[in-house]
Amino acid sequence: MQAGLESLGIAVPPTYVELAELAKARGVAPGKYVDGLGVTRMAVPQVEEDTVTLAARAARMAMEAAGCTTEDVGMLVVGTETAVDHSKPVSSYVQGLLGLSTRCRVFETKHACYGGTAALLLAMDWVRSGSAKGKKALIICSDIARYGVGTPGEPTQGAGAVALLVSDKPKLLAFETGKTGAYAKDVMDFWRPLYSKDAVVDGHYSVQCYLDALEGAYKAYQEAAGDAGGEGMYSDRFAALVYHVPYGKMSRKAHRHVRTLDGDKDVDASFDRLVGPSLVLPSQVGNIYTGSMYLALASLLSCSREDLTGKRVGLFSYGSGSCAEFFSAVVQPEAQARVKALGLENLLEKRRALSIPEYEAIMAAREKLDDKPAEETPGEGFRYQGTRDHKRIYAR
Ligand code: CAA
Repeated sequence: MQAGLESLGIAVPPTYVELAELAKARGVAPGKYVDGLGVTRMAVPQVEEDTVTLAARAARMAMEAAGCTTEDVGMLVVGTETAVDHSKPVSSYVQGLLGLSTRCRVFETKHACYGGTAALLLAMDWVRSGSAKGKKALIICSDIARYGVGTPGEPTQGAGAVALLVSDKPKLLAFETGKTGAYAKDVMDFWRPLYSKDAVVDGHYSVQCYLDALEGAYKAYQEAAGDAGGEGMYSDRFAALVYHVPYGKMSRKAHRHVRTLDGDKDVDASFDRLVGPSLVLPSQVGNIYTGSMYLALASLLSCSREDLTGKRVGLFSYGSGSCAEFFSAVVQPEAQARVKALGLENLLEKRRALSIPEYEAIMAAREKLDDKPAEETPGEGFRYQGTRDHKRIYAR
């Protein structure tokens, strides 16, 4: 049985910071953030936004795009590394906000930025096995990336969610059964202790861990696909390569590594063709952890000028700590038109720029978020209103 993406949805906060402005405020040359890291804008969540509200908004877009009802969803998984509770999963709040059926398997997955991919691959097997019995899986990758004001990681923050509707009617992408290569290694490159809201990272080491994992997963993929060898560069068998994007430059480093493994002498020559379109949206949002690679996928389908119908796309998901997977999918007819119709570029254009003092005030307010007594505030959409009797209260 075929399994793949029927639709997708994206949610980003309505505000952002220009990285050139942030650089000036930190006494850094703007070129370092914009060209050196490859990020133009970084999404900053409002105080009433959290992993739950972003997830619910993205899910609503994916469901509406597919005409999916609340009864159609038989599995709801949220992959996140910025959960709101040690026990209750983000997915339960989302189930409540969306009013999904009680006949649904609902849980959360965690493995840094790989958590959403783990859920997606599991959902794919659920559909292929026939256990789904025609129901769909809603997989949501939702995170708020925080390293703290003034840290080297600060320009690589971001916030957002990507929802993926998985079914036996893939209208966007059909994933290739058995064509996946996994790689896992216990490393301390990036983590977030239970007592901390900010991530701890060994930045330059994390880049090396990412590249080691890419090499391991890429080789494992070739073994699984059983088609190594032959004419030409192996990566030219893909019409596009979508890498996990903590910041745009990391995708360039990843691609150089893949081309080096392929034996290419001019490692940058194929970058614009194979990777460029996937970086348009991420460069405007920053790192959204679990959703980063899927935002890059949405960017490819929305921004590529090439007709990708029937062509193969390679996907590389990396989660620090670490676990990674290289897998592939085939673009379905009308997929690009469907994703373009979501108006994602327009969605990003409509956001408001924050001054650096405004951004710093929001970051400080988020410190006290969980102690905020719930108060009913007028407004639309899914909003986090604070806590009452240790319970998180949401408006819908
Ligand atoms: N103009 C243009 N480029 C400039 C410049 C200027 N004026 N000044 C510096 N640069 C370039 C540098 O040459 C460098 O480029 P290369 O990497 O190609 O050499 C780039 O800007 C960054 O400079 P530094 O390495 O000096 O930057 P840094 O030490 O301040 O930190 C970082 C960079 C390690 C990525 C840091 O931002 C960080 O720790 N980020 C968080 C961790 C992260 O994202 N890791 C990625 C792999 S792990 C992962 O993928 C999981 C995940 O999502 C977290």
